[in-house]
Amino acid sequence: MLGRGSVGKELDDKVFIIADRAKNAVHKYGRDNVINGTIGALYDEEEKLVNFQTVVETYKNLSSEDIFAYASGIEGTFEYKEAVKRIILGETYKKTYKNHFIDVVATPGGTGAIRNSLKNYLNPGEKILLPNLMWSPYKLMAEEVGGSYETYEIFDKNNEFNLAAFKIKVLELMEIQENVVIMINDPCHNPTGYSLTIKEWKDILNFLEECSKLKNIILLNDIAYMDFSQRNLKDYRELFKNLSENLLVIFLFSMSKSFTGYGLRAGAQLAISTNENIIEEFRKANKFSCRATWSNISRGAMTLLSRIVLEEKKYEELLREREGYKKLLRERADIFLKEAKEIDLEIYPYRDGFFVTIPVKNNIEKTVKKLEEKKIYTVVLAKEIRIGLCSIPKKKIYGLCKKIKECL
Ligand SMILES: Cc1ncc(COP(=O)(O)O)c(C=O)c1O
Repeated sequence: MLGRGSVGKELDDKVFIIADRAKNAVHKYGRDNVINGTIGALYDEEEKLVNFQTVVETYKNLSSEDIFAYASGIEGTFEYKEAVKRIILGETYKKTYKNHFIDVVATPGGTGAIRNSLKNYLNPGEKILLPNLMWSPYKLMAEEVGGSYETYEIFDKNNEFNLAAFKIKVLELMEIQENVVIMINDPCHNPTGYSLTIKEWKDILNFLEECSKLKNIILLNDIAYMDFSQRNLKDYRELFKNLSENLLVIFLFSMSKSFTGYGLRAGAQLAISTNENIIEEFRKANKFSCRATWSNISRGAMTLLSRIVLEEKKYEELLREREGYKKLLRERADIFLKEAKEIDLEIYPYRDGFFVTIPVKNNIEKTVKKLEEKKIYTVVLAKEIRIGLCSIPKKKIYGLCKKIKECL
């Protein structure tokens, strides 16, 4: 019955199955006796979902019309687009990027931003370049739009970004493809928590500028966790100035983590270029995709974001609140990293963010079983386990490395 393109498609819901097992264990043994590292959202020290008060209060005070009416504009309201530009490029973006053209298209979550970008820049049959460790829905989305993917080893033997492996794969794709679409999930890479240094970013961009003399290079920059990074934003924002016209950078923004607005389903694509036509075609094609896929996004979510970001005092309140949770996340990470070092537990290089990832060299199924016997639940990847520091209270992080090591 299915159309030809859909035959055999089925979501591998391994992650949801483990998450369910974790929930059942909490029910059976009590919360204090279970470590649930499967969650990808921020939880407080009492293991309750964090909702930033600034966000909750602002949302509650929206009028019914602001929540229930259709939003104006398929590509997002003017205010929402302005707020997204300020978040990503800074309050003074007009001055910083004086000779640039910038546009924003509102999407349902970061997911919508990824999908729209793949739909409009990945040619059917072409491959997106992904790191070998990644947020796996990228692969599904590439497939969904008629493409596929290629991967490179993200880390070299010094546990730094593997520029050499990256370059080889980009050059290979350039040989066979019209467009080379590359996904970089930075900062706070999911699943490892790696964040590129400014030097690593410069090396990547210099190389891609060279490549763009020969082929169209589209760099998709997934910044879903950017607000949990310690990075100096001034240096970071400088990187994206005056890039060559054939290297298009599209930032993929999400309200899920930064505004604890996971279920509101709001995000955006932001494209920047020194060529007006490239931005004009970005706007037209992505707007078309919005209309053809989900129409416009939640008006309430857009109003919420712009009310906070465009009102100085409110935004400061939110930043203060978020800073507190960033600090908490840092403390959890510091406990984990210190103990991992003390007992020589190998982990992938972590710098910021929600997750840490541990390579599993032996039989991963046996390891997972042993972990679950100790009532520790993690997201199981190919040969790695991911632990969500975002949702585990500090008291449960103490001693966790030792328990994990015993199971490896
Ligand atoms: C790396 C990464 N990118 C994008 C997303 C998309 O998030 P959402 O669609 O909820 O905005 C997620 C969500 O977990 C993620 O981990």
